[in-house]
Amino acid sequence: MNIAIDGPAGAGKSSAARLAAKELGFLYVDTGALYRAVGVAALRRGIDPANAAAVNAMLPDIRVSLAHKDGEQRVYLNGEDVSDEIRLPPASMAASGVSANPAVRAFLFDLQREIARSSDCVMDGRDIGTVVLPDAACKIFLTASPEIRAKRRFLELEQKGTPVPYETLLEEIKQRDYNDSHRAVAPLKPAPDAVLLDSSELTLDAVVSRVVLLARQAGEAQR
Ligand code: DC
Repeated sequence: MNIAIDGPAGAGKSSAARLAAKELGFLYVDTGALYRAVGVAALRRGIDPANAAAVNAMLPDIRVSLAHKDGEQRVYLNGEDVSDEIRLPPASMAASGVSANPAVRAFLFDLQREIARSSDCVMDGRDIGTVVLPDAACKIFLTASPEIRAKRRFLELEQKGTPVPYETLLEEIKQRDYNDSHRAVAPLKPAPDAVLLDSSELTLDAVVSRVVLLARQAGEAQR
């Protein structure tokens, strides 16, 4: 059984998906990590992530894979664990660049499908319910207002000791939302049969409970 969770950056998808997967005893699959690994591969080769021709020429030379250790997902680039490097800011920008490239999306498609075929999973991303797993038993589109997402990111960065002005973060979020929802391939949008869940006024616990409930209801309906 597969649960698809899509939505914009900062809506709380990964925290909610990870905790819901744990509660359900499912594998948690963060597909953004795959795009980030391709982005890192481009950066390491000095390739502009937005240069589709150069990125496409690189794809035959790279292998991206996932493994789960103690419930934590690790991502590998040609066998090297790049799980930490993919979280750095340059990797976020590079991931956003390569994710608009149809060849990159095709390159990562089979890997995502194969994981979902072989395990019960909660998979999060942007196009899981619409493209990768259109037959997922349960689809959730998790959103929150841009202001709330900027505020959450502001507090997170402040806690890390690397503060960034709120207004800057809000602008970035709005720009990324626009890019993600206006790209030609697999734009960010809810699947017609997705349940819309707005986390603006909800605690993380409340979001997780709702996801688990929806997953269990979908499981019952399948029987
Ligand atoms: O969720 P994230 O921030 O780790 O995602 C990194 C980038 O990859 C982001 O710009 C959106 C893109 N992405 C995508 O296009 N499709 C997915 N299924 C997951 C992520």
